[in-house]
Amino acid sequence: LRTDLLGAIDAAAGLDGLESLRVHALGKQGAITGLLKTLGGMSPEDRQVQGPRIHGLREAVTEALGARKGALEKAVLDARLASERIDMTLPVDAAPPGSVHPVSQVMDELAEIFADLGFAVATGPEIEDDWHNFTALNIPESHPARAMHDTFYFPDDAAGERKMLLRTHTSPVQIRTMIGQKPPIRIIAPGRTYRSDSDATHTPMFHQVEGLVIDKGITLGHLKWTLETFLKAFFERDDVVLRLRPSYFPFTEPSAEVDVGYTMVNGKRVIGGSEGWMEVLGSGMVHPKVIAACGLDPDEWQGFAFGCGIDRLAMLKYGMDDLRAFFDGDIRWLRHYGFAA
Ligand code: PHE
Repeated sequence: LRTDLLGAIDAAAGLDGLESLRVHALGKQGAITGLLKTLGGMSPEDRQVQGPRIHGLREAVTEALGARKGALEKAVLDARLASERIDMTLPVDAAPPGSVHPVSQVMDELAEIFADLGFAVATGPEIEDDWHNFTALNIPESHPARAMHDTFYFPDDAAGERKMLLRTHTSPVQIRTMIGQKPPIRIIAPGRTYRSDSDATHTPMFHQVEGLVIDKGITLGHLKWTLETFLKAFFERDDVVLRLRPSYFPFTEPSAEVDVGYTMVNGKRVIGGSEGWMEVLGSGMVHPKVIAACGLDPDEWQGFAFGCGIDRLAMLKYGMDDLRAFFDGDIRWLRHYGFAA
């Protein structure tokens, strides 16, 4: 029995075969199990002889099973390693490189143009409180401008104290900057803004860039020169014409909306000349109340501010016609306008 079993174990070709050998020898009905059971009926003398033999057989078989199992498992693993070998030196399909989104591109262009004019880039939170977004900007609780902003509000906290909202414009960065640093101030603040509004020219999330200058003796002339210089540099043309229309913003006085002139070329509006006008930004001289709300003396410090839609600027410069496509993340759209390879 011993030679038979050990020979069969050594010859077992697979783990399944080995398992049935184990059952055959050591299982409940197994040959060795059967022998062990006979020990109980033997005379003490026989048992003394047979006991060690049978137990020795069991040990030898158990050991042989374990050794064979290890060998078979190793063979299986070796085969798998050989078949799944990866050639690390094979060339891979190159993933297409990422590309810059037009909005990021325009933000970079703005930062560069204004850096040349001595403006730093400032930022503020997109989740704002009511005071920075409205009150400090001379838009008190009951002001109709609040309703006009289609604000996304967060639910009031337990105390109903500080109303939080998604900033409806980048103008709260004016407030944070005037509070946070000493004048003279020259900053632009590009970033995301939110209003509950959606059609071909409005998306609930959009981008603005704020401009703010606070210094001594700042006039409307400085504002006009700055905007003209900025828009000529941005559209890369000297024939950019600006039109300032008197307007109203609670945080500037006087206020002006700025149109830029365009010419029709092959049925498309091209910036330059003055065949037609397109509104591109809101601006004005910072209201003395706003300067005072930030703890500065309006008799000492004056300035101008402007706010401009970045997505609109990108559309005008690069010829896109549907704002919503900006935020679809479709690489084919980027490719179409030359933003992706
Ligand atoms: N915050 C205004 C808007 O979103 C734009 C603006 C900014 C106007 C600064 C004047 C001065 O419409």
